[in-house]
Amino acid sequence: MKIDILTLFPEMIKGFLNDSIIKRCIDKGLVTINLINFRNYSKLSNHQVDDTPYGGGAGMVLRCEPIFECLDDIRTPDSFVILTTPDGIKYNQNVAASLSVNKKHLIIICGHYEGFDERIRSLCDMEISLGDYVLTGGELVACVIVDSVTRLLDGAINKESLKSESFTDNLLDYPTYTKPSVYRNLKVPDILLSGDHKKIDEWRYQMRIEKTKERRPDLLKQRGD
Ligand SMILES: C[S@@+](CC[C@H](N)C(=O)[O-])C[C@H]1O[C@@H](n2cnc3c(N)ncnc32)[C@H](O)[C@@H]1O
Repeated sequence: MKIDILTLFPEMIKGFLNDSIIKRCIDKGLVTINLINFRNYSKLSNHQVDDTPYGGGAGMVLRCEPIFECLDDIRTPDSFVILTTPDGIKYNQNVAASLSVNKKHLIIICGHYEGFDERIRSLCDMEISLGDYVLTGGELVACVIVDSVTRLLDGAINKESLKSESFTDNLLDYPTYTKPSVYRNLKVPDILLSGDHKKIDEWRYQMRIEKTKERRPDLLKQRGD
């Protein structure tokens, strides 16, 4: 998969790409990630990319020409263009999974300042919000999308770990423990020490159901339970 991130602040993202599983995926060639500073596409003096809003009001708005011209340059028939915006669809694991499985080339546009010229929306295939709060820019949103999509690519992490992870089959994950088996009177459930793997699987599934019922009954409804 190829991911192009259009940002005025590539340094905000660079460090994130240089560590942990994402770095490993880049090194293994599972994903190529380019940080594109769309300031380079501005033809104005000083490579200006923003301006005051028509009609007046606070803040600066991203102009549309640099983004349009950047997309003219990098967009192909395989590209899927995502705009980060608080009024987009709420991002979740299903969206991450469908991007990971179905798309070969993601282009993520990071807004900044007061926002972007509304005409930029006409370029996009999907508008994504991380949640009901306002960030200073789309860079953290791009990192979240890159992380959640990349870890689902074939070969990124052990498939077994994904099987029961939260939101798979609209259930939360089961509780996990490691050594020591007793710590400050807090005991690991006996079943996990029993060695009976059939029973352990049944217990874990039951725990997923109970935890989801308690914390996220909305997910169970989506399963039809
Ligand atoms: C300060 S915000 C602009 C907020 C805009 N004036 C509004 O009230 O909706 C600047 C940029 O950060 C990004 N952003 C901020 N919060 C976001 C969120 N919750 N989800 C996705 N993108 C967000 C978007 O790219 C947005 O254009």
